[in-house]
Amino acid sequence: MKILLVGFGVVGKALALLLEGQRAALYARHGFSPALVGVIDSRGAAFDDAGLDPEALLAAKERHGTVGALPSRGLEGVQDVELIAQSDAQVVIEATPTSVACPTAALSRLKAAFRTGKHVVCVNKGPLAVAFPALLELARHNRVELRFSGTVGGGTPMLAFATECTRGSKVRALRAVLNGTTNFILWRMEREGEGFEAALAEATRLGYAERDPSADVDGVDAATKLVILANGVLGRPCSLADVSIAGIREVSREWIDRARGQGRVVKLIAELERGLSVGPREIPADSPLNVPASLNALCVELESGGEMTLVGRGAGGPETATAIVRDLIDVWHAQGGRA
Ligand SMILES: NC(=O)c1ccc[n+]([C@@H]2O[C@H](COP(=O)([O-])OP(=O)(O)OC[C@H]3O[C@@H](n4cnc5c(N)ncnc54)[C@H](OP(=O)(O)O)[C@@H]3O)[C@@H](O)[C@H]2O)c1
Repeated sequence: MKILLVGFGVVGKALALLLEGQRAALYARHGFSPALVGVIDSRGAAFDDAGLDPEALLAAKERHGTVGALPSRGLEGVQDVELIAQSDAQVVIEATPTSVACPTAALSRLKAAFRTGKHVVCVNKGPLAVAFPALLELARHNRVELRFSGTVGGGTPMLAFATECTRGSKVRALRAVLNGTTNFILWRMEREGEGFEAALAEATRLGYAERDPSADVDGVDAATKLVILANGVLGRPCSLADVSIAGIREVSREWIDRARGQGRVVKLIAELERGLSVGPREIPADSPLNVPASLNALCVELESGGEMTLVGRGAGGPETATAIVRDLIDVWHAQGGRA
């Protein structure tokens, strides 16, 4: 299977190494033989129909800041949409930064892939959060697959878990901790008695929070994941505009202390019941959603069948790359092992 990877950052690099490291096992277990025939970053691209060498890609990226500097395989200053359309790869992996304010470029790349008959594995939440129903429709129209398991829960298979739990059962509610950064901040506030700013500073120092943490602390990241769960698992067409969103900036020490006195904790909860919402909520301290540090958790409540919860790490390059490989294997099997 020929693969074109768009984005060579934390996730893209981890994926290139994972595909190489798993090469023999993927073939032995699935008859699946992936070849990375193209990689695009923000400044250039590298192509080789016979498959690019991950170590050479990493070395070019490290030394020159772009894969476009790869000797005899690289191109600098490229048009990503044209390259996607012209490539004869069978699958495009979209692993560029998530932006819900301006997902236009990522949307154009996905549309170019679909229109030219390529399957897509997407870990970028932006285009899915604003245009999931339209993208799914376009993929179906062009008879290609759209997979996105790395967008929710990183390497923890939350979408697959929720899909499996809800098969044949009516869902009463989904409740989840979907953002590791805010969970870490609230956990520090609760455990160490810190205020919001001090806990955020610690999250930044440890690399959990971005330099601009607003998408996390204002609840937007969790809301994008909730939209993907609603569309991808429950087939409920919606976008970010349908989510009532509140972040954790207003969560005070006093609130956390008061809640603790009543055997409760404050968590940023993404909830899908009748409506969709993200906001700080008090939950019982013994709830399975009371997960520590930067963990994520998803609780599925069924009308018959009770509650089930999955807990795991919600981010990380190798973890998210693992989710991409799972999606690639699914695409491979969906094509009868021929893509
Ligand atoms: N990191 C995680 O743990 C994690 C977990 C789940 C989902 N995700 C999602 O996965 C995606 C990638 O995350 P990441 O951590 O790998 O981000 P990252 O380290 O910032 O890497 C992003 C990559 O995208 C490239 N890029 C930016 N604009 C581009 C364009 N127009 N055309 C081609 N390439 C472009 C960048 O190029 P340069 O290298 O030239 O800057 C960089 O290589 C994001 O959408 C993120 O939300 C990440």
